[in-house]
Amino acid sequence: MSLEVVKLTAKIGEKVVLNQVDFSLKYGEVHAVMGPNGSGKSSLAYIIAGREIYEVVEGDILLDGESIKDLPPEERALKGIFLAQQDPPQIPGVRLSSLIVAFINKRLGAEDLSKPADPGVVKRMHEVATKLGLDRTILGREVNVGFSGGEKKRSELLQAMLFDPKIVILDEPDSGLDIDGLRIVASYIHQLRESGKGVMLITHYARLLGYVQPDRVTVLYNGKVLATGGPELARTVEEKGYARLYRELARQRA
Ligand SMILES: Nc1ncnc2c1ncn2[C@@H]1O[C@H](COP(=O)(O)OP(=O)(O)OP(=O)(O)O)[C@@H](O)[C@H]1O
Ligand SMILES: [Mg+2]
Repeated sequence: MSLEVVKLTAKIGEKVVLNQVDFSLKYGEVHAVMGPNGSGKSSLAYIIAGREIYEVVEGDILLDGESIKDLPPEERALKGIFLAQQDPPQIPGVRLSSLIVAFINKRLGAEDLSKPADPGVVKRMHEVATKLGLDRTILGREVNVGFSGGEKKRSELLQAMLFDPKIVILDEPDSGLDIDGLRIVASYIHQLRESGKGVMLITHYARLLGYVQPDRVTVLYNGKVLATGGPELARTVEEKGYARLYRELARQRA
């Protein structure tokens, strides 16, 4: 079972952000996505999650063989796609705990989204928050309002753990984290993989990939797939940088 992105071309306004991109993610695997600033990594994440400002011009997105390309973002989330955004937005007026309860209730088909339909959820929320190094009072705060950079990243991971999705997309979960936070995030990524989730891990640095050995690595460059390979590709990127890798591959292909 897997997520398959097939020959995806997408635009935002007149700008082509992805051009014939193929990307495959199996359950129980970590597929790292690397690439320079502006290469289309976050765009790929948003398009899989269904953000409507992007126009898919060509290609398809399949979850377990079924196209999800035309579904709204809420339905994709209910089908098991979770996106931890690079810069998650504030949701004033909504407590973090209420957001988590509402999502879980919705999936359970409960009518009332405010009262936990799953009685164990509050305890789990507290346990996971503590393990992620979050102060539990954060659960009572408005989502991302005044959260520090690292708290935002950890609270996105908290949601990923509690929502129990099939596919977890982590857009730069390492940005803004201290070293302890990086280790904690890495150990949770391990857990997600061990529990059979497919993890798409967008990162700039091989540092996180030293803690979490990815099963596959894809490098985007200017909206196209520049290279796909195993974990050694991350080390090549670290060693050469994107521009040199691009030049060398272009020369080989000429
Ligand atoms: N709303 C928008 N309007 C115009 N261009 C956009 C919009 N959103 C994204 N883009 C452009 O799409 C391209 C890809 O952006 P994207 O955010 O996917 O890059 P990225 O690989 O995630 O970069 P970074 O490493 O900096 O996070 C960039 O050139 C960006 O400016
Ligand atoms: Mg990005």
